[in-house]
Amino acid sequence: MKPLVGIVMGSTSDWETMKASAKVLEEFGVPYEAKALSAHRSPKAVVAWTEGAAKNGMQAIIAAAGGAAHLAGVVAAHTTLPVLGVPMPSKHLKGIDSLLSTVQMPRGIPVATFAIGEAGAANAALFAVALLALSDKAMANKLDKFRRKQTAAVLKVAPLKL
Ligand code: RP5
Repeated sequence: MKPLVGIVMGSTSDWETMKASAKVLEEFGVPYEAKALSAHRSPKAVVAWTEGAAKNGMQAIIAAAGGAAHLAGVVAAHTTLPVLGVPMPSKHLKGIDSLLSTVQMPRGIPVATFAIGEAGAANAALFAVALLALSDKAMANKLDKFRRKQTAAVLKVAPLKL
């Protein structure tokens, strides 16, 4: 099956975190392609992959990077597909550097930015599912079912006691 969502990350060291995106897409049966490509170490490959994404039928791109995290912005500059940015936790600044680099895009080239780390990775994938659900009734039903199950899991917890 051709991938509908691309997951691109700055390094293979981001994969441990970005597996959370892949896991959600697999749960929803969304075909995806995950690649490690760097905006500074392999810039030409980032452009080639991004330009191929829409041609190959992708509907959204999840882009994750850490530190001076320019990958999502560079990807967004080369496509009009929705780009969902996930800031990676970083060693010294705990991902605050990645968050600001991803979220503070100048006007004209948007990157929808999610939380730092695994929660952001999972939510970016859920957001991609929501985008696909706009034109795919079966996907919309799966998303409804996911939300209902999640709510039921919260409500079934008994009152907490010491
Ligand atoms: C960024 O630098 C990557 O996205 C990663 O989060 C960070 C560290 O990369 P490695 O030095 O582990 O390859 O480009």
